[in-house]
Amino acid sequence: MFHVVTADVFDRPLLDELCGLTTVTRTMAKSREGLRFLQELLPTRRAMLYFTQPSTRTFLSMNNACHILGVRTSEIRNPDVSSEVKGETFEDSIRTFSSYVDLIIMRTPQAGYAARAADLMDAIPRPVPVVNAGSGKDQHPTQALLDIYTLERSFENDGGVEGKTIGMMGDLRRGRTVRSLCRLLRHYPGVRLVFISPPAFEMEPDIKAYLEAHGTAYRETDNLSDCLPELDAIYVTRVQSEHDLENESSQVDFSRYSVGVDELRRMKPSAVIMHPLPRGPELRPEIDGDPRSMYWRQERNGLWMRVALIATVLGVADEIRAAAPRFAAL
Ligand code: CP
Repeated sequence: MFHVVTADVFDRPLLDELCGLTTVTRTMAKSREGLRFLQELLPTRRAMLYFTQPSTRTFLSMNNACHILGVRTSEIRNPDVSSEVKGETFEDSIRTFSSYVDLIIMRTPQAGYAARAADLMDAIPRPVPVVNAGSGKDQHPTQALLDIYTLERSFENDGGVEGKTIGMMGDLRRGRTVRSLCRLLRHYPGVRLVFISPPAFEMEPDIKAYLEAHGTAYRETDNLSDCLPELDAIYVTRVQSEHDLENESSQVDFSRYSVGVDELRRMKPSAVIMHPLPRGPELRPEIDGDPRSMYWRQERNGLWMRVALIATVLGVADEIRAAAPRFAAL
C-alpha cells in the first residue's frame, strides 16, 4: 500500500491486519513506556495536512495520529492563505508539499482531487504517499476503515461482521462515508445491506452495481419502521447540505429518517447504532447514553485506526507488532 485514495486498496487480509494493529497501538499507548515507544518511531518524518473542506474529527484524529507516531505536521486549511490565491495550480501546490514532507493527507470539497494528487506523485522523481481524508461526494476511505473496526469490535463476541444485516440511512446519494463503507463490506461474506432513504436520495447506481458484481446482497426501502427489527446495525447519516446547491433536501421530509427513543424500542437489544458525525436532527441526543449507541466510540476508534494506517503507510507496522509483547504486561 502506498497511496490511500479509494477504499479499493484494502482487501480482507489488509483490513484484518489494520484492525489488529489498531488494537495493538491503542493498548500500547495505555502505558507511558508504550506511548514513548510509539512516539520515537518516526521522529524524522513529516506530514502535510491539506484540508480545504471543513473537518473537525478527521483533521484532529489525523493530526494526533501523526503526533502519536512522532511525525511532525504542517497544515493548510484555508487556500486563501496559500499561494493558490496567486494562481498556483493544484498540481504545483501538491508537488510543493512533496518537497517538504513525507506524507500528504488531504480533504477537498471536490471529488477526484486525491486521485489527481496520487497520479502526480506517481509521475515525479520523489513521490510521497497521498491519503484521502474525504473527497467531495465520492470517497472517505479512512472513515470506512474506522467504521469497519467499530463493527468488528461491536460484533467480536457475536460471530464478527460476517452475516450481519446492516442498515444505512439518510442522504445516501451524496454521502461519501456510506459509499466507501459499502466497498469494504463486500469483503465480509453474508453481509446484507438495507439502504433506507427517500427515493430521491437513494444510493447511486455505481455502488449498487459494485455490490451486485461482488455478490453482496442489498435491498432498498423508504420505510425505516419496517426494517428496524431485523437490523444488527444501523449507520445513520445526515443530509449533506454542503452539496445542496439547489436546495433539494428542503423539498423532502427527512424527519422519517431519524433515530430516537421510539426507534430504539423497535431495535434488537444487541443492535449497534453508528454515525460518522457531525450529526443533525437524524440522531437525537437523548439516545447517547444507550449502550447500543456506538458513535462516540466510533469517533475515538478513528484516532487509533489512523495511527495504524499511518504506521503502515510509513513502514513501521511490523516494528510495532514485534514490540507489542514487551508492553502487553505493563
Ligand atoms: N466524519 C467526519 O469526516 O467528520 P469531520 O467532517 O468532522 O472530519
